[in-house]
Order: sequence, then structure tokens, then C-alpha cells
Amino acid sequence: MNVTVVGTGDMGRALVRALAPHHRVRWTGRSVDVTEGRLEELGLRGRVEAAELASALDADVVVLALWHRHAREFAREYAEVLAGKVVVDIANPFTEDFEDFFLPYDTSAAEELQKLLPGSVVVGAFKNTFVAVFDTPQFEEGASDVLVTCDDVHARTLVSALLAPLPFRVLDAGLLRNNRVIERMTLLSREVGRRHGFTRRLSYRLLGASRSDR
Ligand SMILES: NC(=O)c1ccc[n+]([C@@H]2O[C@H](COP(=O)([O-])OP(=O)(O)OC[C@H]3O[C@@H](n4cnc5c(N)ncnc54)[C@H](OP(=O)(O)O)[C@@H]3O)[C@@H](O)[C@H]2O)c1
Repeated sequence: MNVTVVGTGDMGRALVRALAPHHRVRWTGRSVDVTEGRLEELGLRGRVEAAELASALDADVVVLALWHRHAREFAREYAEVLAGKVVVDIANPFTEDFEDFFLPYDTSAAEELQKLLPGSVVVGAFKNTFVAVFDTPQFEEGASDVLVTCDDVHARTLVSALLAPLPFRVLDAGLLRNNRVIERMTLLSREVGRRHGFTRRLSYRLLGASRSDR
């Protein structure tokens, strides 16, 4: 599958590293030189293409590894180019001090992005996966869960298939509006983790046996 990751920060890096062995990945950001440099650091030159933004968005799936505020700006600017594409949103709408969200309870970052991209299909994923988890997604209790949400069942299935080779347990988590809870689960895990001295290698796994586990 053809996938483009936008953003060269912590999550962009982690996602490119995780996706590169399994898919044709292009990586883009505000500067192609920065992207090239990041590829060098990751030892992925030649395996992942550092692309200019304009050309990189021509992909089956575009993953936005951006803060929600920047994802909104990006969506406003590239809505036309992204029309007809599946856009993966990983953002949690944290306030500047990370103590709360700046969106009210009756919406989510994923839903707000979908409103700004009416011609695209927005899929939520990785909302609860702190970046440190990418190094070792396997916990004593099993693999960390990635909850995949979308209002279009086909796109949900497509992104679940894209993520299936990655070392996570990928779960269909239903409609986009479930991100009202899913995103706030991240806020809660951060607070509880801090109260109890957990490291930042923090994620969720729904305990219980699934049919495929048995
Ligand atoms: N970090 C985590 O543990 C974690 C876990 C789950 C979800 N998330 C979500 O993932 C998203 C990215 O988090 P992150 O930790 O990767 O953040 P980050 O390290 O700060 O990276 C964000 C990237 O956004 C890009 N960007 C685009 N427009 C920008 C602008 N106007 N100003 C500044 N940067 C801009 C930059 O890449 P370019 O310079 O290449 O454009 C920057 O490196 C957030 O929405 C967060 O909620 C993070």
C-alpha cells in the first residue's frame, strides 16, 4: 500500500520506522532537507522517500503526524488535494500545558478534522500510543492496542489492513465520534501514569480473550 506520513517529529519518525518494512512509504514535512536528515538518522535512506509536500500527498493513505492545531491549518490548506483520500488522524487536542484538551466534550480532534476535510475520509488511530511504546509495543499482558475509528467501514478496514503487520493489536473501534472517549483516555492515562510514577511507555490494552486469541 502507498502511504505518506506528514510531519517529522516524534510520532512521524516512529510511524515511518514502523511502516517502512511493510509498505511503500513517503515522508514529508515543511522542509525536505529536514526530512532527508531524519531519514539518515533512522538509516532509512533508499527505503523511504523524502518527498516535497505537494507531490507526497498523492497516496492511498495520508497519515498526519501533526498537533491538532497544525492539522487543522494543514487541512484548510490541502483540503482539495486530499479529496478522495483516506487521512489518518493521530492527534489529541492537548492544551499548551498538556493538562487538558482545548476541545469540548461533545466533539473530538478526529471529528473536527473530518469537518474540515469533507471530501476525504478521516480515520482515527494511535491516539493512545505514547511514542515510547513504538520501541517495545509488547507488554507482559500482550501487545498494545491501536483503536481504529472511522465513519466509513471500508476505510476502517483499509487502515486496519495497513496496520496489521505492525507489532500492535489493531482493533476496530467503530465510529469517529468514539474519539470523544478514546482521545480523553490518553489524557487520563497521562494523569494516572504521572500520579503513580509510570514511565512514558504507556498504552492501553483491553483485557479479555478475543475469539482470535482462543
Ligand atoms: N508523542 C506522543 O507520544 C503521541 C502519542 C499519540 C498521539 N500523539 C499525537 O501525535 C501528534 C504529533 O505529536 P509528536 O509528539 O510527533 O509532536 P512533535 O514531535 O512536536 O512533531 C510535530 C511535527 O508537526 C510538524 N508541523 C507541522 N506544522 C507545524 C507548525 N505550524 N509548527 C510546528 N510543527 C509543525 C513538524 O514537522 P515538520 O517540521 O516536518 O513539518 C513537527 O515536527 C500530536 O497531535 C499528538 O497529540 C503523540
